[in-house]
Amino acid sequence: MADAEKENLKRDAAYVAVSRFVESGMTVGLGTGTTASWVVKRIEEKLASGELSDIVGVPTSESTAALARGAAIPLAALDESRPHITIDGADEISPSLDVVKGRGGALLREKIVAHASEDGLVIVADESKLYDSLGDGPLPVEAEPFGWRATLEALRSLGCEPELRRVESQPFVTDGGHYTIDCLFDGGVPDPKSLEAEIKEIPGALECGLFVGLARAVVVAKLDGVEVIEAKSR
Ligand code: A5P
Repeated sequence: MADAEKENLKRDAAYVAVSRFVESGMTVGLGTGTTASWVVKRIEEKLASGELSDIVGVPTSESTAALARGAAIPLAALDESRPHITIDGADEISPSLDVVKGRGGALLREKIVAHASEDGLVIVADESKLYDSLGDGPLPVEAEPFGWRATLEALRSLGCEPELRRVESQPFVTDGGHYTIDCLFDGGVPDPKSLEAEIKEIPGALECGLFVGLARAVVVAKLDGVEVIEAKSR
């Protein structure tokens, strides 16, 4: 799929998600990434046209906060205002609506905001993010810089090939001041819930990009239209 075509699908998914899930007076968790940026754009448009009012955004990253400020969306920190709903992108989506996130570098804050949202998380994506099972690409793990090599080796013992994410040969540092270790599982991630639990037992692994049971819906834009897939009750 051409980049421009994919960008149109990301926009379509975001626009449908805002129409369907955002109402005036809501506090909205604002996700991070290229698809989530279309959500910010759509909320900006609807505030400007008067279709929406009294929206407060809770950004999941510094980059989204900057985007939302530029879009004149009033912002609050999570500790000031609890989101009714969060809308965010994903890297991989399974048929049961479990997702991999964090390849854009913001997973810990994204997960905290999604988990704190009263009505849960809505994922927006183009159809290239749909997979039969998770783990096609690397699973990001946000890690404490102190002792990161020990954390990396502990992750390796779970059966993956871990790699410290770097930018221009320096460790990539998240908004929270942490490192990210990308873990490639040969054969994928057949049991995301168990793997998430195993990763959480590693002290230096602060959070992983598996979002299991958090998405209440996925809004996915395909070449033949936008589909809203609601999670079955678990
Ligand atoms: C940010 O760290 C990520 O979780 C993104 O939400 C995810 O990578 C999807 O990003 P895109 O919409 O840019 O593909």
